[in-house]
Amino acid sequence: MNFNWCAGLFVVLALVSPIYSACPKENQMCLRNGTFQYCDGEERNSSDELMQTHLVYCTSMFCEPEEFQHDYITRNHDQTPHQNKWKRARIGERATLHDVCLLRNGMPVTRECRVKDNRANWESTEHWDPVVCLRRFREHTISGDLNSLHDDVLEGRRRTNDTQGRREMTGIMRNMFRQRGGNLLPADVHMTGQMFGALMQQDKDATVSVDLVSVCKEIMSCDSKVLRLSAQLNATNSLLSQFESYMDALPEQLVPKDRCGKVVAKPTSDEAETATTGVETYNFSDIGVQALITGNISVFFANPECDRITGLAIFSAPGDQRKTSASGFWYRFIRFSEDLAKVKEESNLETAAFLPENLWRQVKSRGATYLIFKVYAHDALFVETSLQRTRKPRSKVISISIPGLRSNYLSLPLPFLLRNENLRNPDSKAFSIGSGCGYWNYETWSTEGVSTESSSDLLKDAIIECHTNHLTQFAFLVGGSYRANDLGEEILITPINEKVLDIISIVGCSLSLLGILGIFLTAALFKSWRSQASTKVLLHLCLAMCLQMMLFVFLNTDDVSEALVVNGNTVRCVALGAAMQYSILVLFSWMLIIAFLQFQRYVTVIGIERPPRYILKAAIVAWLLPLVPTLLVALIDPDSYVPSAAQLSTDTGICYPSGYGLIFGVVLPVTLITVCNLVIFVYVFYSISHSLSQSIHKNEKKMVVKQIRLSIMLFFLLGLTWIFGIFAFMQAGVAFSYLFCITATMQGFVMFIYFVLLDSTNRRLWVGLICPTKMELDVQKRTTELQSMTTSSTNYNSRSHQ
Ligand SMILES: *[C@@H]1O[C@H](CO)[C@@H](O)[C@H](O)[C@H]1NC(C)=O
Ligand SMILES: *[C@@H]1O[C@H](CO)[C@@H](O)[C@H](O)[C@H]1NC(C)=O
Ligand SMILES: *[C@@H]1O[C@H](CO)[C@@H](O)[C@H](O)[C@H]1NC(C)=O
Ligand SMILES: *[C@@H]1O[C@H](CO)[C@@H](O)[C@H](O)[C@H]1NC(C)=O
Ligand SMILES: *[C@@H]1O[C@H](CO)[C@@H](O)[C@H](O)[C@H]1NC(C)=O
Ligand SMILES: *[C@@H]1O[C@H](CO)[C@@H](O)[C@H](O)[C@H]1NC(C)=O
Repeated sequence: MNFNWCAGLFVVLALVSPIYSACPKENQMCLRNGTFQYCDGEERNSSDELMQTHLVYCTSMFCEPEEFQHDYITRNHDQTPHQNKWKRARIGERATLHDVCLLRNGMPVTRECRVKDNRANWESTEHWDPVVCLRRFREHTISGDLNSLHDDVLEGRRRTNDTQGRREMTGIMRNMFRQRGGNLLPADVHMTGQMFGALMQQDKDATVSVDLVSVCKEIMSCDSKVLRLSAQLNATNSLLSQFESYMDALPEQLVPKDRCGKVVAKPTSDEAETATTGVETYNFSDIGVQALITGNISVFFANPECDRITGLAIFSAPGDQRKTSASGFWYRFIRFSEDLAKVKEESNLETAAFLPENLWRQVKSRGATYLIFKVYAHDALFVETSLQRTRKPRSKVISISIPGLRSNYLSLPLPFLLRNENLRNPDSKAFSIGSGCGYWNYETWSTEGVSTESSSDLLKDAIIECHTNHLTQFAFLVGGSYRANDLGEEILITPINEKVLDIISIVGCSLSLLGILGIFLTAALFKSWRSQASTKVLLHLCLAMCLQMMLFVFLNTDDVSEALVVNGNTVRCVALGAAMQYSILVLFSWMLIIAFLQFQRYVTVIGIERPPRYILKAAIVAWLLPLVPTLLVALIDPDSYVPSAAQLSTDTGICYPSGYGLIFGVVLPVTLITVCNLVIFVYVFYSISHSLSQSIHKNEKKMVVKQIRLSIMLFFLLGLTWIFGIFAFMQAGVAFSYLFCITATMQGFVMFIYFVLLDSTNRRLWVGLICPTKMELDVQKRTTELQSMTTSSTNYNSRSHQ
């Protein structure tokens, strides 16, 4: 039953919504693949299914760019949030992000543009896991350049609607692929498919064909792992089908009828050109043939009107009538009058296909003018995604297209011959059941409509003869059980460790450890300093700091953690993690105690009596109290110390609490103490500046300098730096990681400068130790200064001896 297309359409649409009852221009419907379908268009069967799958509003054929927030891995333990944007995409396309965003396996993060309510609509990201990807990585690839080129094309900075713009674009792309220093990534295959798609939207242009063949050739010779990964995005199929369609649109330009019989001035491409493109071109337009030849992929365009050429044979050795190519094979053209059996007998035949006269006359009467043959040297671009296969190709792949036919079905069978590579190179797993010719249906190899000449044992036949009743790519498949390796954990790229942060950590920590060593040495050498109460507090703090730095920077790296976890040594991982947690908490306990002591010194009224042995009591509290949260986490949730497999695979895992263990066992106590310290710091600073404004006395100047110095030191010592750390933890940006790293790792060094180098008493003690004679000369000056010091309120002696 034939409905009028438009009438049928509106019956269905009217049920959905009455506003479609008229046919206003902005509500024109388009076929999804780009052909316009006007309301008064041709007659057609209308059905719900067609509506659902093929029709969209002409004004809504693209998903428009959309903001997207994700994280970049900036170094092994660090992520930084990034505001990115999905690129504009056609329906059915998997869009990539504007700024490169690749996973460890080299796959791009993509989002599909779908049809919903007959409009282009982005796939929902509601249920996505947070996206964490890489922008810069150690491996040298063309992904970044390819991405910018794609961007330029999408955003109109590079025109593809004229010949010059197109040639420039494909030339750049071809050079990228030819000059690539490193490996290709699945993202590159995907993006190349999208670039081909962009070209498909424009007029087809024979001048870019060489570049396209060149790019496909490079992709064919890349790692099979990469192609299999990209097949998960349908990238190989998409590339293949766009390549085939583009080529199929070119014969009108390459082998026009009006060139038949006309002498060709320059039949072969010159060597320089072949060297840049990697493709040999042969212009036989006088006999109606053009060839683009490379070692792995060749395209032949034929116009049988000129010289009755309707086929092609490829050989592995030279011979009579055979033309030679620089790519290591020989070929000859087959006229429609030839006999298939004779062709089959020819020596060293690799593959052949041709249309016999009666078949050619039939297809010609159905609208055909040209033939295109493509020969793929191997099946790299024909990737099956299933892990278990029962057949695999063991021949070249030959693709036959006849543009202009209304249907791909042939009324007479088309013969083709393929050399059985299994004979040359036997595969022990192969068996003849299930062997035969098949075609690629853009998912798997199928045998429907393809018949194989029967024989007693196909696997032993050198040349396999097959016939097909439809057109596409064909190969000889051998049966067997083939299993592909799982690609789940494949890692193709690794992040650039931002070396700067590592260098800061190592230099800072080394300086700090040296500083701490200096402080201990000073304490060991000079009893007068050692016996002061403030020195004792300082030494405890240094000890805690030392422990933490050792664990953090030198012991608990992701390599160590990974080694522990991989070896199943989770107990040691928990112990290491708990030690880290403990060291941080101890450090913070001491910071709190010091802040409290400073508070007493500068703010509270002089005269408060300290209980006897208060340092010892403080020390007991500071070293034991952190055990409580540590043991709680270790006993209640030991697993939270063990990095997850996902963290290990992205190299971001160390043995350290995570989840609730991190929040309640580390972040909460640290935040409380930091807030407390911040309050004390502001209070102390306020009192100091307050007393400063009142002090005009010249004698007080020295005091003021000391106090300012102390304020700076307090800033480092009281762990305000850890505020940066908390911001960095909350992923507020890589700047905080830098601030945190610089300030936190320098703590020990700053303490050394403040307490030893800038402290006049200690300096003098050191000077006295190193050059005693100078000391004698200074003796007078020293006594006067010492006197002023004992009266100074910043002097440690005055407090500790109270
Ligand atoms: C259209 O309708 C005719 C007649 O009912 C039917 O023979 C034909 O198969 C239909 N075509 C499609 C594409 O559904
Ligand atoms: C677009 O899709 C329709 C419906 O499937 C099909 O009939 C038509 O040939 C396609 N056009 C092109 C250019 O592929
Ligand atoms: C190509 O597109 C640009 C705008 O994107 C337009 O200005 C120009 O006229 C077009 N050129 C051709 C040859 O269509
Ligand atoms: C063809 O592809 C294979 C495997 O992918 C590769 O090893 C070979 O170098 C390629 N040949 C040419 C001429 O590019
Ligand atoms: C993959 O791409 C091919 C060619 O564009 C298409 O025919 C096929 O339907 C696609 N498959 C999937 C699963 O999207
Ligand atoms: C082939 O040669 C003819 C004659 O020299 C020329 O006009 C034509 O443009 C050439 N074709 C190609 C694709 O170079």
